[in-house]
Amino acid sequence: MRRILVTSALPYANGAIHLGHLFEHIQTDIFVRFQRMLGNECLYVCADDAHGTATMLLAEREGTSPEALIDRLRGEHAADFRRFHISHDNYHSTHSAENEHYATLIYNRLKEGGHTFTADVEQLYDAERGLFLADRQVRGDCPRCGAADQPGDNCDECGATYDAVELVRPRSVLSDAVPQLRRSEHHFVDLPQFQGFLEDWTASGPVQPEVANKLAEWLDSGLRPWDVSRDAPYFGFPIPDAEGKFFYVWMDAPIGYMASFKNLCDRTTGLDFEDFWLPQSGAEVHHFIGKDIVNFHCLFWPAVLAHAGFRTPTRIHTHGHITVDGKKMSKTRGTFINAGTYLEHLNPEYLRYYFATKMSASVDDMDVNLADFVQRVNTDLVGKVVNIASRSASFIGQRFGGKLSASVADEDLWAEVAGARTALADLYERGDVGRALREVTALADSANRYIAARQPWKAINDPARRDEAHGVCSLGVNIFRALVVYLKPVLPAMAEKAEAFLQVPPLAWEDAATPLLDHAIAPYEPLFTRLDRKALDRVVAATRAEAETQAEAETATTIGMEDFLKVDLRVAQVVAARPVTGADRLLELELDVGDHERRVFAGIRSAYAAEDLVGRLVVLVDNLAPRKMRFGTSEGMVLAASHDDTGVFLLAADSGARPGMRVT
Ligand code: 2FM
Ligand code: ZN
Repeated sequence: MRRILVTSALPYANGAIHLGHLFEHIQTDIFVRFQRMLGNECLYVCADDAHGTATMLLAEREGTSPEALIDRLRGEHAADFRRFHISHDNYHSTHSAENEHYATLIYNRLKEGGHTFTADVEQLYDAERGLFLADRQVRGDCPRCGAADQPGDNCDECGATYDAVELVRPRSVLSDAVPQLRRSEHHFVDLPQFQGFLEDWTASGPVQPEVANKLAEWLDSGLRPWDVSRDAPYFGFPIPDAEGKFFYVWMDAPIGYMASFKNLCDRTTGLDFEDFWLPQSGAEVHHFIGKDIVNFHCLFWPAVLAHAGFRTPTRIHTHGHITVDGKKMSKTRGTFINAGTYLEHLNPEYLRYYFATKMSASVDDMDVNLADFVQRVNTDLVGKVVNIASRSASFIGQRFGGKLSASVADEDLWAEVAGARTALADLYERGDVGRALREVTALADSANRYIAARQPWKAINDPARRDEAHGVCSLGVNIFRALVVYLKPVLPAMAEKAEAFLQVPPLAWEDAATPLLDHAIAPYEPLFTRLDRKALDRVVAATRAEAETQAEAETATTIGMEDFLKVDLRVAQVVAARPVTGADRLLELELDVGDHERRVFAGIRSAYAAEDLVGRLVVLVDNLAPRKMRFGTSEGMVLAASHDDTGVFLLAADSGARPGMRVT
């Protein structure tokens, strides 16, 4: 028996599960279920990838904490996967005690081994928000063609790629401030030290040939040190002995695989972390990933593991990306489909089956075509495979007391079907699932031709041919059972229904070798219905509607009273005011709001001297989510009229108004 640990890439905790995640998790789940059917011990763990600036900023926009946000999303993600029958043994989070333990341990071991160093890095810094800006958080004029308002990594107009520091007239997308160039010390893993190790490892067979070629190209052009630190504020784990520095999200993300497994071990008797992760482990570790993250998994990850005293992965299974009807998934076209939206209209196993027909061991992109989706499910699965059961089983029930015949009516046909299991197992093992399904369809074709030629519906009424009809229908049921074995990794819920109908315990792979003889089955009930194209169209329409609602919310020119009343405007009195060192637009205000106080940073310093403000009545947005800034947290916003040329004018309440009064 093999002992196998399997993972899918960890979804980010900043959005919903969509078709892209589902493809990968379904692909992984098929491999896992197949291994379990063979009798191997196969554990499947995953987690949410919780850290990073994106999580921090999303939590801020939603007026919540990163911890509350990632908890909510983890619950939603795990539930979506469960409903798609993804059989994770554990769905954990990278923001966990286990992950902090292993991230720290691994980093310390690399450091002790002399594999890390520190160096200064120059980056754009938003002084108002008090944070370093990632490329996508800066916009400005393209340094090549001059197009306005381009992102910090490449120009949407001329396609040029550049460094954020090259942008002309850069602006922070977080505060609109002009970013400054600042130096800060970063921590690096000295990847070039691992060049020789990686040349050997990547050539030793753990990746597909196309991936090995790509890696060889990267290795030939030389590796660069890997920057694994980010400055505070950052939602992540602190780097030991490095004040204000955190592990970059990609440092602790793959360690999240180990952490999720450790968490599972701690709850499972007989499962030992070290059996799977120490260098001499006889167990296997398989990662399933998309081709965009090959560098992290095939260069950083094995090098880090090997130099921190752990084993390297057995195999990394890389897949291409999916396009829908030849184009990138898009919200406006209705093809960026979320798991939840799909499930409101369609059976998850339709998608499992269709995705499975697209799976191969190659890293080419796959096109998902809606017409083809309907066709594959209805023609191949329902029309060919399920049809064998429906046309054979009713006679067994009605005319033969529900009992299958005591012998096999056509040994050659049975041998063809049962004998396919070795080749099919090989295809599943290699990830050539689409080809396996085509072979299953071909077997179904043989069975249907056989039944059509023997015409049991006629033979059954001829007393001399009654036994023959019994044999043909029984063989039909047995072939159907073997095909259910072959499809069970893809269609676990359908297989479970079939097991109930066949009155057998859960089917294992080798069950396809022996027919059921003289065996009673239950009355047949439809196992799988046709996919209704209209339901699929409703999924697309619902996705488009979600995109429209979101776009309207973002661009709405009017708001309802209900929206307006969400803004809690209050009269507030300035108790104290002072300039903020290092931010020449800001004043720090302490405000009395009747029954509570607030501290607010306001960009009004160009127009007001701090001392003139004390005692004034201003208007405060009292329920704005707190915003973390470098100098402290701003707990609201005071209202002011402003125009670039003519200055800033605070809105005031007339004398007689009291702090805390609601403004409507
Ligand atoms: O690309 C992504 O979606 C990452 N969240 C995948 C992380 S996989 C692993 F390294 F954690
Ligand atoms: Zn340009």
